[in-house]
Amino acid sequence: MRVLGIETSCDETAAAVVEETGDLDRPWRVRASVVASQVAVHREWGGIVPELSARQHVRDICGVVRQALDASGGGFDAIAVTQGPGLVGSLLVGLAFAKGLAWARSVPLVPVHHLGGHIESLVLEHGEMPLASVVLVVSGGHTNLYRIERPGRYELLGRTRDDAAGEAFDKVAKLLGLGYPGGPAIDLIARHGNDRAVPFPKTRLTHADRNAPHLAGRRDFSFSGLKTSVVRHVAARRAELGVDGAHPLPFAEVADIAASFQRVVVETLLDRLFEAARWYDARSVGIAGGVSANSRLREEAASRGASRGLPVFVPSLALSTDNAAMIAAAGLRRYRAGVAGGLDLNADPSLPLHAA
Ligand code: KG4
Ligand code: ZN
Repeated sequence: MRVLGIETSCDETAAAVVEETGDLDRPWRVRASVVASQVAVHREWGGIVPELSARQHVRDICGVVRQALDASGGGFDAIAVTQGPGLVGSLLVGLAFAKGLAWARSVPLVPVHHLGGHIESLVLEHGEMPLASVVLVVSGGHTNLYRIERPGRYELLGRTRDDAAGEAFDKVAKLLGLGYPGGPAIDLIARHGNDRAVPFPKTRLTHADRNAPHLAGRRDFSFSGLKTSVVRHVAARRAELGVDGAHPLPFAEVADIAASFQRVVVETLLDRLFEAARWYDARSVGIAGGVSANSRLREEAASRGASRGLPVFVPSLALSTDNAAMIAAAGLRRYRAGVAGGLDLNADPSLPLHAA
């Protein structure tokens, strides 16, 4: 069975064809994966402009799907499409396209949750993880911690109460004059800095969230305090050096701030991930989503895993940021579990994962 995946939830128009292998350890194989990035469209505005994103998806989707199908050298038996969460106008482009194509070709349409896609990118690449597993999904819009006891069933253990980790990277990069997208820029410049230069605080939430009493809340994250500390530090240094907002701080100082910020984010994420893994007696841990591309996060996760004898799963760089291969893989899992949508399927910008 082959599935065509379509992903348009944010600023990448992506299509991919993934097939089943029949091998239980490595259930899926990528036949083709095409991603058209909108980074150049949004860079000029310093962040994603939803209206421009939707319009660019409309321009790109036909060509991207055609390219993926041509490269895969064959047809498809079902279509998997991201239903949410994401920008509603952007989601609608992929969904409308997928519905039209599914109807024209008389194939089933499988709605997929974007974060379920990120999680399944780990299985797509490495095969089924030893379960139970604890997986951190860390992207521009989310910082969620899940426990997986059975394949395809994700239990939310904690999430950010304010900014997502990727969002914090993007905002701090903007403040430091490093441009958009910020994650890769901070990752690069941090290599030249001293990660102990600035003692930014780690936020450790210990109380339940009044807005979500059903969650214990002890495994939640918060990054807005850290972001504010960086803002204050930069303002204080500018005042000391007598430079205004139009002038960048010296390179070495920007590198030190970036490295110190990145160290705190990485430690906060990994402390929570490995604490949860120990608490739930996990046999593996995983990290997925755009921020999993971060080199420091990968290195430190690998070394913490090795010292605890716990396998750590991380996707390759191509599968860590948004793509459609992960959507097709999650679609295959869901199709085999009996999930299919009708032509009345609607985009849901805040779709919860357990309901997907
Ligand atoms: O998963 P993704 O491609 O899109 C969303 O679903 O949000 O994640 C994008 C996020 C952005 O915030 C970007 O700055 C961040 O992932 N990112 C990184 C790195 N590469 C991408 N953050 C830190 N270090 C990186 N190397
Ligand atoms: Zn994503």
